[in-house]
Amino acid sequence: MAKNVAIDGPAGAGKSTIAKAIAKEMGYVYVDTGAMYRAMALYFLQNKIAKDDEEKIASVVDDIMVSIKYQEGVQHVILNGEDVTGLIRTEEVGNMASATSVYGCVRTKLVKLQQELAKTTDVIMDGRDIGTVVLPNADPKIFLTASVECRAKRRYDELLAKGQEADFDKIAKDIEERDYRDSHRENSPLRQAEDAILVDSSDMTIDEVVNKIISYIK
Ligand code: DC
Repeated sequence: MAKNVAIDGPAGAGKSTIAKAIAKEMGYVYVDTGAMYRAMALYFLQNKIAKDDEEKIASVVDDIMVSIKYQEGVQHVILNGEDVTGLIRTEEVGNMASATSVYGCVRTKLVKLQQELAKTTDVIMDGRDIGTVVLPNADPKIFLTASVECRAKRRYDELLAKGQEADFDKIAKDIEERDYRDSHRENSPLRQAEDAILVDSSDMTIDEVVNKIISYIK
């Protein structure tokens, strides 16, 4: 049986940085499920489909092919044959992904793909519903969180480091809104699975979090 590790938590808690480091250290494949929701969201944006038009979204879901491939250990997301890895990291796509991931038709499609991947491969998968829905048998399940202030500060520093403009209050407000939407939706809301271990990274370094989770895996 393939080994499956689940990491769930709110936006900006550091899930992908942590999961990538653990995957490298443990020889697992890192699966970023948010990237799949982002690829679907990019399709809706490119095709000018409104985020609240559930009927239209349901009617085009079957035309959307999302897959992932690995190049030198890095996950690439393919949308209808095109590598869109470089196009999905914008705030616009992130917000669209949060808004359209509420729909059952979107989730059913991506959950199936995620489960297929985990069946045959040792994976560390991050998202919002991995421990609760996608991989209920994952072991361990980690719920990684950090305070809103701390997550906003990390994002703020990241933007400044890239030489981009940043407004701390706006970033914090966006994070709060995204948290609310992700955890109050009807379908697979963000929540800690009963058997998940809570890790609050607010006052921890990346190395500390990585080592703590590796100790749980071992
Ligand atoms: O982790 P991320 O910011 O790349 O995810 C983008 C959005 O996708 C997030 O706001 C909610 C949605 N998402 C989800 O509903 N379920 C997942 N397993 C992963 C992401």
